[in-house]
Amino acid sequence: MGTNKVIVGLSGSIRDQSSTKKSLNSLRRYISEEIEYIIYDGLQKLPHFNPELDNEEAPAEVQVYRALLDRADGVIICTPEYIKGVPGVLKNALEWLVSSATLYQKPVAVITASGGGEHAHQALLLNLSMLEASVEHTLLISGANNKLTEDGEYANDEVVQSLKELVAGITLQNN
Ligand SMILES: Cc1cc2nc3c(=O)[nH]c(=O)nc-3n(C[C@H](O)[C@H](O)[C@H](O)COP(=O)(O)O)c2cc1C
Repeated sequence: MGTNKVIVGLSGSIRDQSSTKKSLNSLRRYISEEIEYIIYDGLQKLPHFNPELDNEEAPAEVQVYRALLDRADGVIICTPEYIKGVPGVLKNALEWLVSSATLYQKPVAVITASGGGEHAHQALLLNLSMLEASVEHTLLISGANNKLTEDGEYANDEVVQSLKELVAGITLQNN
């Protein structure tokens, strides 16, 4: 009881029909049923990061978000690229994790899926290195929209294989 692993998914896009959200959802099929896979859908509820609010009584949603990540054995971040960088909503969410050191040595896998995406990918890896997350599994999917079905599934065999390997890697990391 309570010993199952927990993997938390974070999406860098918060729009309703986001292909990133759909992709994150589609990873469920590669994750063993014994693992609890929770996609956190509250990034848009986090206030803009402000160090003055970052104390023991941090905003309620920040506490919910940090508590969920504290429970996680691993985190999968899937994001598009916005203006050659990490979307603001995701960057904001990461800024809330600096003082709490929530991602310190935590296994984090990164999937950047965009038209190009290499700038956001590199920037996100740099952000995660500042947070001292343990990033061993990464995947850059350029031209993502051409490889996605309407349901947000990847039809491309090579991408599917890479996603399976990434999911297997993050679920086994630190075993
Ligand atoms: C404001 C904005 C800026 C964007 N900038 C880039 C960019 O710099 N590089 C890129 O590859 N795609 C860029 N895109 C395209 C998105 O990354 C792409 O549409 C992505 O699939 C959106 O993800 P979503 O479907 O999960 O919302 C941008 C899109 C928007 C709306």
